[in-house]
Amino acid sequence: MNQDLNAKFAVGEALTFSPGEGGLTRAVIQTPACRAEVYLHGGHITRWQPAGHDEVLWLSQRANFLYDMPIRGGIPICFPWFAGNKPADRPNAPSHGYARTQNWQVADTRHTGQGVGIILATTIEDYGLTYHAEFGEALHLSLTVTNNADQPQTFEEALHTYFTVSQIKGIQVTGLEGAEYLHTVGGANTLHTQGDTPLTFDQETDRVYRSDAAVMLHDPGLGRDIHIIKGDSQSTVVWNPWMDKAAAMSDFGDDEWPGMVCIESGNITPHAVKLQANESHTMTTTIRVENCT
Ligand code: BG6
Repeated sequence: MNQDLNAKFAVGEALTFSPGEGGLTRAVIQTPACRAEVYLHGGHITRWQPAGHDEVLWLSQRANFLYDMPIRGGIPICFPWFAGNKPADRPNAPSHGYARTQNWQVADTRHTGQGVGIILATTIEDYGLTYHAEFGEALHLSLTVTNNADQPQTFEEALHTYFTVSQIKGIQVTGLEGAEYLHTVGGANTLHTQGDTPLTFDQETDRVYRSDAAVMLHDPGLGRDIHIIKGDSQSTVVWNPWMDKAAAMSDFGDDEWPGMVCIESGNITPHAVKLQANESHTMTTTIRVENCT
């Protein structure tokens, strides 16, 4: 399989296919601009390290690499619902939907201005999904969903990005000031408004912000700012499980929670996307790293 993929889609030495963890097929990207990895399982980016910077994405040391399980870390794709917002008639359906355990197909690869790009595709029920990732000194992601049904359909989506941080208590997230958010810790479902100060962390945090604004993750401990710029994304999720919830997850190391934060571009109720038959919708995210003091 990797041979066939390499014959058809390798981009010189810049993008090649090989077995990754658990024997799952991954594309390995190595260019002067960055190193990265993307698994066909889940269309899941597990690594992106732009030149001159440390690894940007967080990946649990306890992550599963199994064909029927999601990978803990990197950038899982949540679709066609977010978290537990599954249809009422499917109580046993998985958290965050089916995309993150789906085997995605390679549709195309190519050189881009500053790196390489890969286009992955899959179908989930009556939806067609195309995921375009461009790996360079910035990471550009674009998820297009097409409604292949002959009636309207509504979905939720998120690029559930896990970032490595120096220490959760020492970081700040800016760009969400004044935004409404749904606070969901411990099963709560209450609406709040972010004050005019940056978001900081001193406890379990699980919030769905109603915001399309660009966000910055300021991490003085690692000496870097991570800029997250969104297109057609009306929701931003911010999550850190803190100690007890991390300990309860079998694929999350007990001591790992201080070193990560999720900042997720999405469209989540009340901003779920309704598509008419044959209509498409594209959500984009660009991630860029800058040194800071
Ligand atoms: C976050 C949600 O996006 O994902 C959390 O806001 C959830 O509520 C977390 O716990 C992890 O979900 P999962 O299904 O990967 O364990």
